[in-house]
Amino acid sequence: MKTKSLLPLLIILLLALTLVACGGGSEEADPAPASGDVTGNAAAGEALYMQPVIGKNSAPGCNTCHSLEAGVTLVGPSHASMGTRAASAVAGQSAEEFLHESIVDPNAVITDGFTAGVMYPAFGTDLSAQEIADLVAFLMTQK
Ligand code: HEC
Repeated sequence: MKTKSLLPLLIILLLALTLVACGGGSEEADPAPASGDVTGNAAAGEALYMQPVIGKNSAPGCNTCHSLEAGVTLVGPSHASMGTRAASAVAGQSAEEFLHESIVDPNAVITDGFTAGVMYPAFGTDLSAQEIADLVAFLMTQK
């Protein structure tokens, strides 16, 4: 075979390899570990919380929908005193568990006066377990 006729084949091979490398979808097969498996860093969580866009799909950031000031409702509830409120939000759930669930599965519990399906639903797969734990740790500091 002449070198020239190999070129298209080579290109197809490279494309196939790129697809395997990028489209493997290992994220789905490897769900984020539960909140207990990583230790959150509140300072890192605060920085994440303030980002205008967040996560691998550039979703709207937390503070585009949530304020940290009491009584200020943007799209979602204010996160003032969120750490305190989280502790008694759901019977049998710790504050951290409630916050973790609220981020990865926002429709599991709907805050009174708000509507299901409004909070961006894919943070659980867009963010790493560490990032989610960091956000939980930051919200826990809001007393
Ligand atoms: C598109 C708007 C939107 C974005 C972006 C958003 N949220 Fe929300 N969030 C909501 C709405 C609306 C609710 C209330 C309905 C519900 O419980 O799902 C809510 C509820 C919550 C609650 C429960 C609050 C309570 O008072 O019980 C937490 C915790 C929370 N969000 C955390 C976050 C974090 C952390 C981020 C960023 C990673 C984020 N949210 C991004 C709209 C948003």
